[in-house]
Amino acid sequence: MLVLGIETSCDETGVALYDTDHGLLGHTLHSQVDMHSEYGGVVPELASRDHIRRVLPLIRQLFGQTDISLESIDAIAYTQGPGLAGALLTGASFSSALAFARHIPILNIHHLEGHLLSPLLSDPAPCFPFIALLVSGGHTQLMRVDGIGQYQLLGETVDDAAGEAFDKTAKLLGLGYPGGKFLAELATQGQMGRFKLPRPMLNSNDLNFSFSGLKTATALLIHQHKTSSQDRADIAYAFEDAVTDVLVKKSTAALNLTGLKQLVVAGGVGANSRLRKKLQHHLGGIGISIFFPELEFCTDNGAMIALAGALRLQQCNGLHELSGSFTVKARWNLEDL
Ligand code: KG4
Ligand code: ZN
Repeated sequence: MLVLGIETSCDETGVALYDTDHGLLGHTLHSQVDMHSEYGGVVPELASRDHIRRVLPLIRQLFGQTDISLESIDAIAYTQGPGLAGALLTGASFSSALAFARHIPILNIHHLEGHLLSPLLSDPAPCFPFIALLVSGGHTQLMRVDGIGQYQLLGETVDDAAGEAFDKTAKLLGLGYPGGKFLAELATQGQMGRFKLPRPMLNSNDLNFSFSGLKTATALLIHQHKTSSQDRADIAYAFEDAVTDVLVKKSTAALNLTGLKQLVVAGGVGANSRLRKKLQHHLGGIGISIFFPELEFCTDNGAMIALAGALRLQQCNGLHELSGSFTVKARWNLEDL
């Protein structure tokens, strides 16, 4: 079965083709980062308009690359939520129209389900059950994953998401948008141990996170020291060190609590190389296997949506026959699937 995946939840238009027998056949992506960067963040109205402009040319490009025609598609999977309502609506309306015209079923996919299944695009892939650390711009969650659609929330941030804290702190440091990767780059020039920032909720005896206080503590440091570029690099180092320490400690606690031996790290912050190194260092030696998506699949993309759709199609789960109307879910709890 061949599934066309369409992702438009925020500032990336991603499309992909996933075959249940042959895996990922191809994917294309347009990032709106350049367009939004002049405003220092995503402008929702501009995001929606750009998705409308991009989605069809991207799909044509994908068909051209893979030599597959629209007539061969068995189902369409699109991101129904969570995300920006207007951006989601562009993908939902486009997908519904295409599915209606082709008389094929449509699959409503949860964006975070796409992220947490994205390591299944790699080889070797994790087997169920596993722990997933979801660290994106909008979410920071630890989930127990027992199978497709079987997700148990173990802990989550009580305020800012890790990616959001990276982006806000990067902004305070005068870096571009989205700031996570720029802050990580700057941190590579920082000195270890010059500044020490708090590790919020490190010993809270639960699996929850908090990052807004860390951001405020960093803002204070920047205010006191923003004189030299070395100061900024040292602050970036201290910030990244604090966030990654907390993520590693809580992931370890989730593994200990459940007794599971596999950790999947997904979402944009999963691209952070210090986080990857620390997890390998702390968990690799004690028999835990860690799975990261390929870098191109850490941030938003169509491949993870096509994959999630294909896996659901195999289970005949989440299939939605067209009823002539559609809806998006700007807020949507993964456990409610
Ligand atoms: O998963 P994603 O593309 O979007 C959401 O679903 O939210 O994640 C984007 C987030 C942004 O906050 C971005 O700054 C962060 O991932 N990010 C990083 C890195 N690359 C992307 N954060 C830290 N280090 C990185 N290398
Ligand atoms: Zn995402």
